[in-house]
Amino acid sequence: MRPVFLLSLLALAAPAADRVTFSESVAPIIYRNCVSCHRPGEAAPFSLISYDDVRKRGALIAMVTGSRFMPPWHAEHGYGEFEGERRLTDSQIAIIAEWVKQGMPEGDRSKMPSLPRFTEGWQLGKPDLILEMPAGYEVPAGGPDIYRNFVIPTGLAEDKWVRAVEFRPSARKVVHHVLFASARGGSMKDYDGKDGKPGFTGMIPVAGASLQPGGGGLGGWAVGTTPAFLAGGMSVSLPKGSDFVLEMHFHPTGKPETERSLVGLYFAEKAPERRLMTIGVPALFGVGNGIEIPSGEKNYAIQDSTILAADVQALGVAAHAHYLGKEFKATATLPDGTVQPLVWIRNWDFNWQEQYTYKRPLLLPKGTRIDVSISWDNSTANPRNPSRPPQRVLWGEQTFDEMGGVGLMVTAVRQEDEALLEKSEAAAQAAAIAKAVGNGTVRRILESQARARAVATARLLDITIFDRQGKAVRTVGEPGVYTQAAFSPDGSRIAVIRSDRQTGNADVWVYDIDTGKGTAITSDAIADSAPVWSADGTQIAYVSSVPEGNYFIISRKAADGTGAAQLLYKHTPGEMPVITDWSADGTLWFWAGDWTYTLVAGETGPPVKLVRGRGGRLSPDGRTLAYNSTMSGRFELYTVAVKPALGEPVQITKTGAVGGIFWRQDGKELFFMANPGQTLTALDVTALSTATPTPLFKVPAMFAPAQLSSIGTRDGQRFVFLAAQPLATANAVQ
Ligand code: HEC
Repeated sequence: MRPVFLLSLLALAAPAADRVTFSESVAPIIYRNCVSCHRPGEAAPFSLISYDDVRKRGALIAMVTGSRFMPPWHAEHGYGEFEGERRLTDSQIAIIAEWVKQGMPEGDRSKMPSLPRFTEGWQLGKPDLILEMPAGYEVPAGGPDIYRNFVIPTGLAEDKWVRAVEFRPSARKVVHHVLFASARGGSMKDYDGKDGKPGFTGMIPVAGASLQPGGGGLGGWAVGTTPAFLAGGMSVSLPKGSDFVLEMHFHPTGKPETERSLVGLYFAEKAPERRLMTIGVPALFGVGNGIEIPSGEKNYAIQDSTILAADVQALGVAAHAHYLGKEFKATATLPDGTVQPLVWIRNWDFNWQEQYTYKRPLLLPKGTRIDVSISWDNSTANPRNPSRPPQRVLWGEQTFDEMGGVGLMVTAVRQEDEALLEKSEAAAQAAAIAKAVGNGTVRRILESQARARAVATARLLDITIFDRQGKAVRTVGEPGVYTQAAFSPDGSRIAVIRSDRQTGNADVWVYDIDTGKGTAITSDAIADSAPVWSADGTQIAYVSSVPEGNYFIISRKAADGTGAAQLLYKHTPGEMPVITDWSADGTLWFWAGDWTYTLVAGETGPPVKLVRGRGGRLSPDGRTLAYNSTMSGRFELYTVAVKPALGEPVQITKTGAVGGIFWRQDGKELFFMANPGQTLTALDVTALSTATPTPLFKVPAMFAPAQLSSIGTRDGQRFVFLAAQPLATANAVQ
């Protein structure tokens, strides 16, 4: 008999399923397992309280419960036994499915269970100390995710022991998750509020605070977290005068929100008998493991292990990675060979940074080996991958970076072993840092932090268009941190490098002058610079500094932001190339170090070293290059014939000139920046070597000499500079 037929016979033989109603069978399941999150004011996107709420989404509910996507719980069932596991039984799942199949009848309303009572306000009772963020932080309606740290002085006059931290966001919908730490009082003062908004950026404080004396992690909060006291009556130290630090992750929702969180602290009467310690595997979230995930890699994995220096009780476990994290598995192999499962997260979800508490503490004797394997998915198949297309990813603290580790929360069985355990953890961390210094990770992180701080505190600029008299005619787009603005050949758009104030990432943007609308041409963690337009205005070439800074690439992309980037050239000498022109025949002109090079796009050969100097711009007839050189001792304007053959350099200025070289399209005028004083100056090209330069105007202070591409319109009537707010009027030269 064919199996399908057999199955249908069986179905016929089975007694008809009882009528399943909402009131009697489904509501009890939903009320017990779903409404803690799916009710008004909580984090889930909709309420599941009434019959109508549930019926409207019946099919979806059957699907997400069947796949065990809901209720959310990421630790594999049966692999470690945890408190508060959110999980439906197989028969509960079957009841929901059957109800949907039967057309979702409501049944007898009088049989409805009563709605669980939810405690309003503090879930753990009145806290011993309530802290409030000193000021509200405004989360914009849109834009990238925001990581922001807030410092709240505790004002504690004596040392305390914290049994629980309860967190109450004021704008629940935008707060994704929070990590807590204590830090030495005043130690973060230098960062706080420096960009004019409360708090500061970067994912440093918790890791940083954990390393300094008197500081340390105090757990965290994620959507759906039920506040709880630490397992086993434990508490952690909060020294007097400490600051309480919140490391928050916001996700804009389409509506501006202001977050001003409350934190409730619950203190123990006295110090705990044992200290709560965390054993991190790998140490410090893999900073020493040389994590380098190729773009497109579906399964990048690391393994690490540690041996316990003394007998411990494991109370709980937590995992941490960013968006590319995929799978975590941790086991303990006891000295007698028994393998004890610790945790298995098969499908890591960054939004659920959960701490799992064991139902019963696990006794792990000295000599037990903790093995951890972690994998990441950096392909487009990972829906959470923040980079499209995927980029190569290294260890770091930003959204685009990765890290990974499992933290096992333990207490020593014997108090006298505490020092030993602490020493062994400190040694593992020191070894990880030594490796990170050796492989360049530390240098790279410090540099990117410095860059992010510089951008966060940078002044806002306006993309400002000036006429020949130095009058600011208009601004384009919104204020931002910009450099290197360049007019499109037809004068209708401006390409510019825009730095993100949260991440410090620098990307190419194009603004339409009429509408002011900006389009991101690149958007990734790699710093981009030197945007230059193709002669027909359809493409933009730019330079990217590949993360570890040892090489640079020149790429091009469509100027409307569509399509993929195309690699034109990889530059390895270690000096950053700066593109300044892209002529109609496809030749790119760039300088690096002291030399100007040409590169025929599409040819694979090395670029041709041309002249000593920088900032080269080709004349409209393609025969002469105007550039800056220090051949005479300081930067001056030079020209050199490049067609039909390379000629001898001719010095044009004698009193200093650097940057801003630009030819009028009719070939009649050549502009340059006279130095010192940054005065935009025009030269009559028809008598180049004898002409007297005409000063036009002193440009606003924000002119960067690196702004070397097309600063003017082809008719030589309009110029673009980045003026500090409020709108600066350039000083006309009398
Ligand atoms: C711990 C909090 C929490 C619990 C408990 C919970 N949910 Fe959810 N649910 C969420 C959140 C948050 C989302 C939004 C999606 C996300 O962030 O993963 C969600 C989304 C959903 C969705 C939409 C899924 C989609 O693909 O659009 C459904 C349906 C759902 N939940 C049903 C349920 C049901 C049924 C239960 C109980 C069996 C349940 N949830 C329990 C928090 C919860």
